[in-house]
Amino acid sequence: MIKTGFTPDNIVYTPKNIVSFIAELVSSWKSVKVLDPAVGSASFFWNINERSKLEPSFTGIDIGPDIIGMAEDNLERFDFEYNLINNDFFEIKDKLVEKFDLIVCQPSFIQLKDVLTVDGYKFLNNEFAYLFASLDLLAEDGYLVFILPEQKSFFYSDYHLPMREFLLENYSVEGIISLPNDTFYPEATLKTCILVLKNCQQRSEVFFAKYSSDNADLILDNFQSGKFVKNLSEGFWVDASALADHNVSWTYDHFKSIERLKTKKEKSKYKIKKLSDVVSFKHDFDDFEEVMLIPKNPLEDVIFRSEFNDDDLDNYFTCIITDEKVSPQYLKLYLNSNAMKNERNLFSYGTFQRILNTFGLNSLLIEIPPLKIQNQIVETSNLSDKTYKKIKTLYKGFKSEIFNYDSLLNLMKSFEEIEDEDLFYKNLIWPFATSYHIALKTSADKNTQLENHFKLFEIIAAFNSIVLLSALPNDVFHEKKNYIFGEECLNFQKVSFGGWIGLYSRLNRIYRSFDKETLHILPFESNFYKKLTNKNIIQILNPIISKRNEKSHGGTMPEIIAQKSICELNRFTNQIFDVLTAYKSLKLIYPTNMEKSSGLYHINTKVLEGNSYDFDEEEIVTEDDMDTKLLYLYNGTTDERLKLKPELIKLLECPECGNWSLYFFNSLEESYVKYVSYQFEVHDHKAAPKSMDEILRT
Ligand SMILES: C[S@@+](CC[C@H](N)C(=O)[O-])C[C@H]1O[C@@H](n2cnc3c(N)ncnc32)[C@H](O)[C@@H]1O
Repeated sequence: MIKTGFTPDNIVYTPKNIVSFIAELVSSWKSVKVLDPAVGSASFFWNINERSKLEPSFTGIDIGPDIIGMAEDNLERFDFEYNLINNDFFEIKDKLVEKFDLIVCQPSFIQLKDVLTVDGYKFLNNEFAYLFASLDLLAEDGYLVFILPEQKSFFYSDYHLPMREFLLENYSVEGIISLPNDTFYPEATLKTCILVLKNCQQRSEVFFAKYSSDNADLILDNFQSGKFVKNLSEGFWVDASALADHNVSWTYDHFKSIERLKTKKEKSKYKIKKLSDVVSFKHDFDDFEEVMLIPKNPLEDVIFRSEFNDDDLDNYFTCIITDEKVSPQYLKLYLNSNAMKNERNLFSYGTFQRILNTFGLNSLLIEIPPLKIQNQIVETSNLSDKTYKKIKTLYKGFKSEIFNYDSLLNLMKSFEEIEDEDLFYKNLIWPFATSYHIALKTSADKNTQLENHFKLFEIIAAFNSIVLLSALPNDVFHEKKNYIFGEECLNFQKVSFGGWIGLYSRLNRIYRSFDKETLHILPFESNFYKKLTNKNIIQILNPIISKRNEKSHGGTMPEIIAQKSICELNRFTNQIFDVLTAYKSLKLIYPTNMEKSSGLYHINTKVLEGNSYDFDEEEIVTEDDMDTKLLYLYNGTTDERLKLKPELIKLLECPECGNWSLYFFNSLEESYVKYVSYQFEVHDHKAAPKSMDEILRT
């Protein structure tokens, strides 16, 4: 018996939905002999057999004796021909005399201690060695379907280029289907893909798609029929010659970005050029040259060499601007915009430490307005930077010596003339902007003002808690449910001001314990969660609970005392609004209706932004559908979205006064569920009774 570290308890199983998807994918091929060289539970076998019109025979190999035992047990109940071999695949492979029409496999993803040479190529990763070793067993016109880690360098590095070329020259790369980050969660959060090869001459076009359980059937249909739809996640075809370039990454994201660039070209109102056409990349410069440093990390800012104090330029691509019609300052601002950071990111590789590849760098498309507009953009940036610094200096001076107030006062007065709404609230999501406006502006009565301040803090704690709850991975939610809501959810049957803050602080603790892999599978950048779960925010919110209790017990306060409390709270408001900038690249949206055309979803949404009621209406064109009449946080550049738990937060039009308001879960009453608004709305909302479990599960 072979001794190995692999046991039924420690291997990663291919999830059921992926096994079914692969079984569907291969069902139309005429496969008589099927091999899984890392057979594990043998789940591929019965799933493939079930869908096959032929009567295939199956061969499975696994190094783990107990694993082979498990596969035997699993296959016993089926009535098809199979042969299970307990051996090391690399040892046994040359002894197998037959060839297979179909090889399907999810090898173990392991970094090898020693280099493994297969077909003259040296491998350091078990899974790619496995892939190459399997090729020798593939019959002519046979197919190979492997699940592989997408972010590993095999798919993009120069080192692996000869291996990729080998595949293109000797086999046909048929398709690469990207799988979601959380496919193997919680065992692993690695991004993976399905690679499909055929033992024949390279076909002219290669299929790329991004799997989700909702679009699985469409992907299969498009792959089998050779269709090209506008919704790229459902599949598109790339000229096979494009895969041969050494700077190309064989990933869905990479080719999707190239497709997106085509759309950008069609849509932009300004002239568009490739970055490589307006700059020249080089390493040696004269002292007088204005050198632009483009960070290899796509999320960092582009700077000029004159702004950089170090000599070590290893983390940057260095270039000078060669097109006279492009202002260097404008180009820098353009490359640092959110949309371009996202474009840089899509052309990057690596899971945690992302690095922009040179192909991507050269392909970035730059919108070039007339020089006059470029200069105005640069001027806006310079003036606002200058004013910002001026205010900061005056502000610090004033805070350290309050009698230095006059210059700051004059400056502030000139700002006062501009409507606050336009400036400050504009970029905040609607519930915060409105509640802030209500707290500061709508009542002259100090007691009401103070109460509205408390409501502002309550809405912040409630909203952030619901966001964190909605994003929580399912298994963490179930594991920590008692900690979050108390035994039997008792702490959450009626939520008070303190209740929301308590909930927020428990969620904070959970999020702060997440490793980067877990943060990686959540929608949006991990910084978003880091900002929302900043320790300070709880330290600020906690003492406000007792202030509010004092106020509610003491009844109406003398005006001067209420004013003093408001001043104290205002200090906290500013700090909290800093945290709320986490939402700045997101929109809070409410889809009202949706249509599908050419594979894309056209979703009409209300955008809940700024202080304006009569929400803006916006059409989102996206590859994935959304539920209508629910709230989402949405990032328009990356298309990531988070559905907010609909039983905890609702946007509703009050039947009594016709206003739209956000309603938050408040309590579970005997015959209904009560929702309250922290905004203008005075009427509560009563919904049909539900159990606590139903409320929290959705
Ligand atoms: C990711 S698991 C396969 C899971 C399988 N698809 C399932 O869902 O049950 C990889 C399997 O490869 C086996 N394995 C790892 N190295 C091997 C080797 N050198 N030869 C044969 N089997 C090996 C492991 O024991 C493990 O069962």
